[in-house]
Amino acid sequence: MKHLLKLLDLSTEEIIDLLNLADQLKYERKHNIPHPHLQGKTLGMIFQKASTRTRVSFETGMVQLGGYPLFLSANDLQIGRGEPVQDTARVLSRYLDGIMIRTFAQQEVEDLAKYGSIPIINGLTDFCHPCQVLADLMTIREYKGSFQGLKMCYIGDGNNMANSLIVGGLKVGMEVSIACPKAYQPDEKVLAFAKANGGFTMTDSPIEAAAGADVIFTDVWASMGQEGEAQQRKIAFAGYQVNDALLEAANPECMVQHCLPAHRGEEITAEVFEAHAKEIFDEAENRLHAQKAVLVKVMG
Ligand code: CP
Ligand code: NVA
Repeated sequence: MKHLLKLLDLSTEEIIDLLNLADQLKYERKHNIPHPHLQGKTLGMIFQKASTRTRVSFETGMVQLGGYPLFLSANDLQIGRGEPVQDTARVLSRYLDGIMIRTFAQQEVEDLAKYGSIPIINGLTDFCHPCQVLADLMTIREYKGSFQGLKMCYIGDGNNMANSLIVGGLKVGMEVSIACPKAYQPDEKVLAFAKANGGFTMTDSPIEAAAGADVIFTDVWASMGQEGEAQQRKIAFAGYQVNDALLEAANPECMVQHCLPAHRGEEITAEVFEAHAKEIFDEAENRLHAQKAVLVKVMG
């Protein structure tokens, strides 16, 4: 594995390998067993959007692996003043051992990989959020033991999270159902993959999608960069909420997951969030372990 640009690029075997390594790194951290796989290596972290989890987990993850993380805000880089990504990629490749980038266009991440000569990790684009979904898959396997026979459901916007969950869930062999308004469906490339793969259903009825689910995901109605559409989206997504009534349709032991940040009273009720807080914060913790696995695979 050279880069992590999107889950569509990874085989099932590569995903499972990453999850196994993540479990091992989590075990080692819990038992204070050092794992300095990236001694002396430097990761540049470019952020064009806000972040709590991604920034802090990558930064501490690099330190735990014996490496050095460099936080690079796009506001301070020349990229923020229009220096082309092709040039940024070639320059940073001369200094760093890897780059994590959070940005808007997926093409920018693909271009960094194309023009640079070091591993590139996607820390979220408008198209996908592969690091998050690796942590999500890790958490599901931790709670359920395996992916076999599980139904994963996603309620809400057909956004970066929906795109990555569909691909990740199907690649590890889960059944995947999603409910979203007709005007807010996932990316066409993702839908084409899902249809060809099988085991996928899409509806505009949340109750239908949640029927018999073993894990239900949701995400914000307005993502970073869509703040101006927030009002219009509140209307479009009314009814696409993870609440007690929806959970009645799911399996009794159904997990609830949320990548965070969450908007209580919008995509999820405060009651459901708090009832499933342990699962949700385990999911957030697993960002650290899953990303360390990615760092070791691409930079080790
Ligand atoms: N879930 C997630 O990526 O969180 P941040 O935006 O805080 O990094
Ligand atoms: N869909 C959200 C995910 C945040 C982690 C966003 O892009 O803002």
